[in-house]
Amino acid sequence: MRLQLQTWGEVERYLETFTTAIMPIGSTEQHGPNGLIGTDAVTSEEIAYAVGELTNTMVAPTISVGMAQHHMAFKGSMTLRPSTMISVIGDYVDSLAHHGFERFYFINGHGGNSATIEAAFQEIYTAHTMHGSGNEPSVRCTLRNWWTGSEMRPLIKKLFGDKDGMHATISEVSVTQHLFPEQIKDGTMGPPEPFKSRWTDAADYRAKFPDGRIGSHPDLATPEAGKQVFDLAVKQIAEEVAAFGEK
Ligand code: NI
Repeated sequence: MRLQLQTWGEVERYLETFTTAIMPIGSTEQHGPNGLIGTDAVTSEEIAYAVGELTNTMVAPTISVGMAQHHMAFKGSMTLRPSTMISVIGDYVDSLAHHGFERFYFINGHGGNSATIEAAFQEIYTAHTMHGSGNEPSVRCTLRNWWTGSEMRPLIKKLFGDKDGMHATISEVSVTQHLFPEQIKDGTMGPPEPFKSRWTDAADYRAKFPDGRIGSHPDLATPEAGKQVFDLAVKQIAEEVAAFGEK
């Protein structure tokens, strides 16, 4: 159930019974030699749409650009400043809370967003704590990285062994190949640069990871593996969204 495909009347009827919104959030950034720039945005968005269908939950518009300054030495990458992103998340939540939504389930596609999303949640709670009347709907936010979960890590291990990596992973590239088979790119590449240390700014990242990957072998990605990863993410997250709405 996508918010953007409803009428205002349909949203009004939804809010008579439900208060949960699914919030897809990702990033628009380089994903190595064969990964799509929008990987983190389109994966979280498509998982959110599928979870929304399964659980009859409203899915808000995707926040498609995230915190990706360290990828800016690669063409096509875009970033928000952390402070901008905190404001964007706050305005998305406040807009929907204004209408009566209370539960915000963020499905995130980009690890680099996590700290900023958590900071945004604290800004939202602080505003309620410091300025709320005490009678307002209680806004509750939660963050779920789609590639985690009790069953997901074992599946990724089974499919890809220790080759999945940290960025431009086989699993995320596989999910995009499942979702957009017409966009599968040539996967010819050598082994990844060995991981020596974490990065700071964009120039430092590019110097350490010249083709954009971190420790991954995305030339091993397949749409079939992507379907397994996608289906499991949707199943697990749907169970969690259903429980989240009942709290
Ligand atoms: Ni990614």
